[in-house]
Amino acid sequence: MERRHFIRKAAITLASVTGALAAATYFRQFIPRTAGEKRRIVLGDYRQFPVDTYTFLDQHGLFVYRDHEGMRAVSAVCTHLGCILERSTDGFKCPCHGSLYNRDGVILSGPAPRNLAWYRVSRTSDGRIMVDPGKRVRAEDKFLTS
Ligand code: FES
Repeated sequence: MERRHFIRKAAITLASVTGALAAATYFRQFIPRTAGEKRRIVLGDYRQFPVDTYTFLDQHGLFVYRDHEGMRAVSAVCTHLGCILERSTDGFKCPCHGSLYNRDGVILSGPAPRNLAWYRVSRTSDGRIMVDPGKRVRAEDKFLTS
C-alpha cells in the first residue's frame, strides 16, 4: 500500500469515527433517561421516611415522597443530559442547565425534553416498601401505606 493511500484511508477512518461519536452524543439527549436502575430497590419500613417530604436517595437517583396516605417515587435524573436534580420550593431544578420541573415532574422550562419518570412503589412479601424503576406510573399514582 502506498504511503499516500494509507494516510488518506486513516484520515477518512478518523473523520468517520469522530463524526459518529459527535452524532451519538447529539442524539443521546433525545433518549429518555431513567434513574439508571432496572432492578427493584427495597427501601424498608415506610415510617423511616418523614411525612410530607421528598427524601433524596442519591445511591439510586430517586426522590421518594411520603404523605399521610402513602408513598411515590420519582427519578432525580434530569431528562436533558442526566444531571442530578435538586429540590426547589415547588418542584425540582437542574443545577446544570437550569431546567425546572413542577412537583409532579412536569417541565416548566427547558432545555429538558421530557417530564420526570415516576416509578411504581409496592410492598415486598415481608412488608418492606420497594421501588421498581422498570415500571412507570403516573405522577398521581400512590402506593397506599395506610
Ligand atoms: S442536564 Fe438538566 S438541564 Fe441540562
